[in-house]
Amino acid sequence: MTLPGLFISFEGIDGAGKSTHLDALARAFRAQGRAVTLTREPGGTPLAEKLRTLVLNDPMDAMTEALLVFAARRDHLQQVIEPALARGDVVLCDRFTDATFAYQGGGRGFDLEILCYLEQLVQSVKLADGDFVRQPELTLWFDLAPDVAAVRLVGARMPDKFEAQPVTFFARVRAGYQTRYDADPQRFARIAAEQTREAVWQNVLISVRQRGWLA
Ligand code: TMP
Repeated sequence: MTLPGLFISFEGIDGAGKSTHLDALARAFRAQGRAVTLTREPGGTPLAEKLRTLVLNDPMDAMTEALLVFAARRDHLQQVIEPALARGDVVLCDRFTDATFAYQGGGRGFDLEILCYLEQLVQSVKLADGDFVRQPELTLWFDLAPDVAAVRLVGARMPDKFEAQPVTFFARVRAGYQTRYDADPQRFARIAAEQTREAVWQNVLISVRQRGWLA
């Protein structure tokens, strides 16, 4: 019997440390016999990766940024995420639409109503039993104070356009995540990311096991 697909996104401000746990969670699912699609946003398809390079490096206004990340998302959903979920894969996605609300909405101050409209438009899926708006079943929010994240990012690598932003920008991004969390807390597991890597990992495991998705 094929298990239904499962969509989990990973979110948090730059420097929150989410990416190491993506690989570990993929291994945990694979160890239990699940096929895993590991992907990221912006990106995940050849076209979306090109858009990622533009968004992360080229100066542009907030609306252009929002339109490009949603264009990348549309391609990613159609080419990768929807087919993987239809096959019954576990899709682990490094960032999804909450990042747009946090970065373009919170950080850059772009209109949240327009983001809501784009979310409905871009993530609409037509299935045999009707239309709906695709969302992750679970979003792991690695929550970290921006000043702690800034210390972690120092010397990590050449900062991109977002990583080079000041702490005040990331305070607004974090508030953007908080607003999304408050609107739909059941979808989220908020993980205190200032803990040790092992403690954070245990929290990731608990969040997934609580939902009955890992033994
Ligand atoms: P990453 O470094 O975690 O791969 O994320 C790429 C950067 O892109 C990160 O700084 C957040 C930003 N971003 C947005 O601004 N809007 C979005 O919709 C997404 C998905 C990412």
